[in-house]
Amino acid sequence: MKTPAQPRHGMVRGLSHVPRSPSFEGRFGRMFRSLPAAEFRPEILAELAKAMTAEREDPPTPETERDPEENTGISAGITYLGQFIDHDLTFDPSSSLQKQNDPDALVDFRSPRFDLDSVYGRGPDDQPYLYAADGVRMLLGSRLTGSPKDPNARDVPRSNPAAGPKRAIIGDPRNDENVIVAQLHAVFLRFHNRVAERLQGADFETVQRFVRWHYQWVVLHDFLPTIVETETLQDVLPHLKNGTTLAADPPRLRFFRWRNEPFIPVEFSVAAYRFGHSMVRPQYRLNTTLPGRFDIFAKSGLDLAGFREYPREFAIDWSLFFRMQAPPKDVGKERLQPAYKIDSSLVNPLALLPAIEAPSIPVLAHRNLLRGLSMGLPSGQSVARRMGVDPIEDEHLRVGKATERNSATNVILTDISAEFGHNAPLWFYILAEAQQQFRTDVTPIRLGPVGGRIVAEVLVGLLLGDRHSFLSMNPEWRPFDDFTRHGQFAIGDFVARALEARESPQTHVAETAAEPVLAGGRRATP
Ligand code: HEM
Repeated sequence: MKTPAQPRHGMVRGLSHVPRSPSFEGRFGRMFRSLPAAEFRPEILAELAKAMTAEREDPPTPETERDPEENTGISAGITYLGQFIDHDLTFDPSSSLQKQNDPDALVDFRSPRFDLDSVYGRGPDDQPYLYAADGVRMLLGSRLTGSPKDPNARDVPRSNPAAGPKRAIIGDPRNDENVIVAQLHAVFLRFHNRVAERLQGADFETVQRFVRWHYQWVVLHDFLPTIVETETLQDVLPHLKNGTTLAADPPRLRFFRWRNEPFIPVEFSVAAYRFGHSMVRPQYRLNTTLPGRFDIFAKSGLDLAGFREYPREFAIDWSLFFRMQAPPKDVGKERLQPAYKIDSSLVNPLALLPAIEAPSIPVLAHRNLLRGLSMGLPSGQSVARRMGVDPIEDEHLRVGKATERNSATNVILTDISAEFGHNAPLWFYILAEAQQQFRTDVTPIRLGPVGGRIVAEVLVGLLLGDRHSFLSMNPEWRPFDDFTRHGQFAIGDFVARALEARESPQTHVAETAAEPVLAGGRRATP
């Protein structure tokens, strides 16, 4: 019998059959159906990918020194919230290792929603092994240590095979892609349990609904304003500009339209929403007790690659990743790590993707560019024109880091090949567009009018098209008062509430016998 492939981040079935016909809507579709596909020779995409991948370099030490690739104002955790959101939206129920191939995947899949299927799977009746015996709370994994601020830190539950890696037992295995997104998933499990405690006696569906609504609130009121430049976002969400409510000033979508149910446009999944790849840092400090930083991926030694159990001492101190209640001082080991800039440069470890994730081409930039070609995406310039935005002139489309040192000397796209003249791959264009904002006094760099509009319209559209979202059911709804801070509820508050969930023997799986210890591995950069 053929073993089902391990679902990979980005490898979603149905994506390879994207309809062009305006009368057919599948799980994936097109936002700009009338625009022609941009054509490139694959060789020049390989060249561009090479130019977009930074050389290996260790960020400055001591960590108090400013790293010019850091996007001050966007914290490192936002990157992984973005990855988590991606996995929620592109949830593939048949990848849950229960079902095998479904040849009708294209038409049978549910619509993408902010419903946390990646956390809940198919629910307590269908996948009871994700849930505590009460059928309401979520099961957690082994205890993690290393973050004194979070003595109850836990991993996601994992399998315990006699041999081989201990894979996560979660609604969507792709959330085990790296140590950071896996622990963020565990935070969502704990947030669910915290809501269950608060609503004592409530049934599963009620708890789930409020968890989803708090998460949707964070997407609208924290994630989007953090990553999309203000003018574009306010055009999509006028209530933000007018200081009114979503009910009084509903969202306005100009380009993302659907007939029956919203779908994932390929301009979003294969280009705009991959902006997050440029935000990945090469290394992360996990907590204040472990010395040094760890590579996100490395050829050898101890890195943050996923799909396996990692050392117990890896508990993440979330105040190093998100702006929390009492922000740490911006000095020394306690420093809140910013994400890297949204620009046309990806860090070197993203050219070393683990084989489980990228069996053939390990260079992420190359994969993204080839995927855009095979999906027949239009060029960045043609999308800009269609939106009524002046396309960026060729000489301003530069490849590389948006830093003072690099921006003047970065290679111009058309120097790589004249074929790119007025014809930039959409994913590259969106990153280069964000980069236009670079000036030493402008922080943070966010998605611009083309990239920001695609991302904002799709995320908001998916919420509008979901009849169970708070936007559809109750646009006046606000997060629980006692969950907010000065009336605000951002991702830092979400995490803080999750960490308050009480420990209970019913909510965690038995500790595994073999204790992974931090020994023998390559020590992180001091
Ligand atoms: C260490 C972090 C990450 C790694 C290693 C990673 C890796 C990958 C890989 C290997 C693919 C498949 C590429 C292909 O063959 O087409 C992919 C797809 C994708 N990634 Fe990432 N990624 C990361 C973070 C992110 C973040 C932060 C975002 C967004 C904020 C993101 C958004 C996407 C999207 C939208 C896709 C395409 C489709 C999908 O998953 O449905 N990724 N990523």
